[in-house]
Amino acid sequence: MLTRPDNDHLFLRACRGETVERVPVWMMRQAGRYLPEYRAVRAENDFLTLCKTPSLASEVTVQPVDIVGVDAAIIFADILLVPEAMGLELTFNKGEGPVFDPPIRKTADLDRLKRPDVDSTLGYVFAAIAETRRVLEGRVPVIGFAGTPWTVASYVVEGGTSKNHAHLLAWSHRDPQGLRKLLDRLAEVTVDYLRGQIDAGAQALQLFDTWGGLLSPERFAAVALPSLETILDGVSGDARARGVPIIYYGNGTGHLLELLSTLPVDVLSVDWRQSLSAVRARIGDGKTLQGNLDPTTLLATPEVIEQSTRAVLASGRGGPHVMNLGHGILPMTPVENARAFIEAVKAHGRRDAET
Ligand code: CP3
Repeated sequence: MLTRPDNDHLFLRACRGETVERVPVWMMRQAGRYLPEYRAVRAENDFLTLCKTPSLASEVTVQPVDIVGVDAAIIFADILLVPEAMGLELTFNKGEGPVFDPPIRKTADLDRLKRPDVDSTLGYVFAAIAETRRVLEGRVPVIGFAGTPWTVASYVVEGGTSKNHAHLLAWSHRDPQGLRKLLDRLAEVTVDYLRGQIDAGAQALQLFDTWGGLLSPERFAAVALPSLETILDGVSGDARARGVPIIYYGNGTGHLLELLSTLPVDVLSVDWRQSLSAVRARIGDGKTLQGNLDPTTLLATPEVIEQSTRAVLASGRGGPHVMNLGHGILPMTPVENARAFIEAVKAHGRRDAET
């Protein structure tokens, strides 16, 4: 099979800001329920068992590479495995999503959180990364990931997925120092966890900040940013030494772009709410942009998917670009539509192509 230097992949070169022959593409949540092959594995195993069994996690990680032809594989795991490793009970109930019961709501509750040894508590993710590298034989690189402390805290404090995040936001107003302790505790474990992922063979890292957009720029800087910086400070040395680019993904964070553009990350991954050219006009060309097709576009016809993908490619032409969706692929997406998206990028994303 292919023997390529570890960091010579199209996706990694684009992350580093190099001029590449074609825009690379992958999809957030690409290993998941829209794939019948995933549902078949999932029918036999609950979600956490899948995450914790390296051979199964690796199998579903590779599925979208084989089935839809993405240019990178993201390791099958979840952002909520970190607080679980810290001692919180995590369950995924059918139709309800993740549940932490009891949640963490005040400083006294922090006593329930441990500082775990990540090798013994999250080593299954490291094993899955190593196994996936072996299985892929260099075909595409493997992306590791974690949630930002703010986004992970949302689930831990709310006790699950929330509409208004009232408990989290109330805590941030009532007792910012107390909440800061929770975010710092999550950050220190996340540093160990991401460094472990690099050691295991992760070739890029993505930080998911699904709820970063809840805060104004001033409050983001005061509340969410310090723990995010702790992570970047803790991981950047290893990442740089190993040529591992770091990607920050924010959802609903358009109002934070100027601030986010100062983060020491290689790639900013943005949602679909404004065009890539508009994003670049605001933040300059210091970073690779990742995104940003609206995931609901993949519920339309192949013609609409192709047109919309070409529009995103055209908008991204002003600088280095990794194509992706603006948020995760929806479970109801037809597989052939996901494939139409990937193929549109491969057909129209060449440097010399007209978009
Ligand atoms: O991207 C991938 O393909 C890799 C695997 C991955 C999963 N979750 C698997 C998963 C990744 C990168 C995540 C990240 C994640 N997890 C985020 C950030 C990205 C985002 O979508 O905003 C968040 C907020 C979570 C927390 C989480 N996990 C929720 C809220 C849920 C339930 C809602 C839902 O989408 O089902 C999960 C479950 C989950 N994580 C599934 C998968 C494939 C579905 C589980 C199943 O098969 O039943």
